[in-house]
Amino acid sequence: MSAVLPRSGVVLGVASLVLSEGMTPEHGREVVRAAVEAGAAAIDTARAYATVDDDAAGERLAATAREIDPGIPLITKAGHYRIGTAAWDADGSADRLRKDALRSREVFGAPPSLLLLHRADRVDDVLASLRVLAELREEGVVEAIGLSNASVELLEAAAGVTTIDAVQNRLGLGVDPIDEYRFCREQGIDFLAYAPFGGPRAAPLATRIPHVAALAMAREASIHRLALAAMIDALPGLWPVIGPTRVESVRDSAAATHEVVDDELRTAFRDDLRSRGVDL
Ligand SMILES: NC(=O)c1ccc[n+]([C@@H]2O[C@H](COP(=O)([O-])OP(=O)(O)OC[C@H]3O[C@@H](n4cnc5c(N)ncnc54)[C@H](OP(=O)(O)O)[C@@H]3O)[C@@H](O)[C@H]2O)c1
Repeated sequence: MSAVLPRSGVVLGVASLVLSEGMTPEHGREVVRAAVEAGAAAIDTARAYATVDDDAAGERLAATAREIDPGIPLITKAGHYRIGTAAWDADGSADRLRKDALRSREVFGAPPSLLLLHRADRVDDVLASLRVLAELREEGVVEAIGLSNASVELLEAAAGVTTIDAVQNRLGLGVDPIDEYRFCREQGIDFLAYAPFGGPRAAPLATRIPHVAALAMAREASIHRLALAAMIDALPGLWPVIGPTRVESVRDSAAATHEVVDDELRTAFRDDLRSRGVDL
């Protein structure tokens, strides 16, 4: 399937499990466990998913997935870090990226399966940052590298610097265009589509993909699960990165991997995206 992600399916992101109010490490571990048991393709974390007291809270949580599935890929991100109760900073310098990568490797007890430059949209010299990531891959500190929050223009420029293994950008269903996905597909770069449901504060999913919503209602099925299944089916080389905070929702969403996608669902999904200006 891909060197970084051997299985197709959904990726569990742990941002909200660390950063949302009311979360505890015990609850986070339960959600991670449920995701792995339901067949999640990988776990996504970041140096930035930290608490004020623990710079590695998100990575520690992600690493618990390996207690259940020792081979599950662990994705993390460097160059964006927490500096206070409600403050984060971006820094793509060689010092910062090297320090972040070594810390991630230490917390995982193994090289991260994939290290992404977290805020490619915010650092001063992305191509210089990318050269550092390429060195880290070359040295075996990390297994694979990529960019997050990168435009097509930036990805074109990056292609002249080194081979990029993966990109992680936002792809909210019925909200975002798919140009960056298309570029990655053409180039053979894995695409991690974060926040497919638009994140925790988004408008109800049914208002953005009404045909899929109607089908879900008729079948007494979950709209989230059908949407993810249709997304994986329609966009090969793409892994949705979801952020549920409840065990029930992670089980429901992760089951999308095994959902059968028929022509009726395919058509409903295509019609919904087309009405939002996205032609598949
Ligand atoms: N690279 C970056 O800069 C970046 C930025 C943002 C996010 N991310 C990654 O993407 C991940 C996901 O982001 P996100 O949390 O914003 O995205 P999301 O998955 O689109 O939205 C999360 C929301 O969807 C709900 N949900 C998920 N599955 C559901 C289901 N089956 N039924 C009902 N509700 C369901 C969750 O509900 P409950 O909470 O009630 O379960 C939560 O409110 C993050 O954890 C992080 O790993 C990366």
